[in-house]
Amino acid sequence: MKSVPIIIDCDPGIDDTIALLTAFVSPELEILGITPVCGNQPLERTVRNALQVCELGGRPEIPVHAGCFRPMLRDPIYGQFHGKTGLGNTVLPDPVKTVEAMSAVDFLIDTLERAALSGEHVTVCCLGPMTNLAVALRMRPQITRGIARVVMMGGAYREPGNRTMTSEFNMLADPHAAHVVFSSGVPIVALALDATHQVMLKPEHVAQFVSVSGAISKTLGELMAFWDRNDVARYGSRGGPLHDPLVIAYILAPQLFETARARVFIEYESELCMGQTIADWYGKSGREPSAEIVTKVNAEGIIAFFLERLARYTEKVAA
Ligand code: RIB
Ligand code: CA
Repeated sequence: MKSVPIIIDCDPGIDDTIALLTAFVSPELEILGITPVCGNQPLERTVRNALQVCELGGRPEIPVHAGCFRPMLRDPIYGQFHGKTGLGNTVLPDPVKTVEAMSAVDFLIDTLERAALSGEHVTVCCLGPMTNLAVALRMRPQITRGIARVVMMGGAYREPGNRTMTSEFNMLADPHAAHVVFSSGVPIVALALDATHQVMLKPEHVAQFVSVSGAISKTLGELMAFWDRNDVARYGSRGGPLHDPLVIAYILAPQLFETARARVFIEYESELCMGQTIADWYGKSGREPSAEIVTKVNAEGIIAFFLERLARYTEKVAA
C-alpha cells in the first residue's frame, strides 16, 4: 500500500490518544501533522496532550499545530468522559516538544494547497469538533482540491446521541463547523455512533492490549481502564466504545467496514436537536449524497487489528 498522506485533527482525549498511538506505528500512513482543537478539553490542554502523546508514542518529529480556541459560533461544551486533563488519571512527563508557530488553520491551508498542486491529495482525519477544517474552508474554499477525503468520527444516524437525546459530542460541540464541512462537497467517510457502538472495548480486550503493547503498556492500561465506564445501563455490557481509533482502522483496513451513501444534513438552529446529523438515505431531499456512512463493522476483525498494531510497541524503545 503506497503511504497515505494524512493530517490528524483531534481533541485528545483518551480515544483520540489510542487513535494517534495506532497511527504512529502504521508506516502506511505519512502523518503530515497533528492539529488539536478545542473539544474534549480547552485548546491549551488538547495541544499539551497531543505533544505528550507524540513523545509517548516515540514520534516527537510530527509537527503539532494549535487550532481554534473555541467553536465557530457556540460556547464550548467540553467532554465528560476523559477526566480533568483529558487523559483520564494518566500523568505524562511535561513535553519537551513544542507546538509549531504556524496555526492549524494556516497549516491546513498551506498543506492542502501544496497537495492540490502536487496531486498528492491528503486524507484529513477529524477526531473532534470540525472547527479547524471549517475555518480553513471558509478562508480558502479551494483547498478541497487538495483533499482526497475527510474520514471523520462524529454523528448519530440511527443511534441516539451520546451527549443529548439526538446528538453526538463532536457534532454538538461545533454544529456550524460540521455544517460547513458537510456542505463543502469534499468526499467524506462518516464513522458515527452507528459504527463505533458496534465495537465495545471490554475489560478482556484491555487486558490483551496491555499485555502486548510493551513500551506503552502501563499508560495504555491506565487510559483504557478509565475509558471502561461500566456502561451496562447504556451499552448493556462493560467497556467503552472505540470511537476515534476506528478512523485510523478505516484507512488501513477498509475491508472491515461497510458503508452506504446518503446526503447528510446538520441541525444547527434547533435548541432541542442542536448538532443532530440527519441522513437522507432515500433521496427525499433531491440532493446528491454527500457522505459514505459506515453502517457495519467487523468488530472481531477490528479488535484483532488493534491488537496487531499495538503489539508493534513491543519492539519500540520506551518513550
Ligand atoms: O462522541 C465521541 C467523540 O467525542 C470522540 O471523538 C471523543 O474523543 C469525543 O471527542
Ligand atoms: Ca475526539
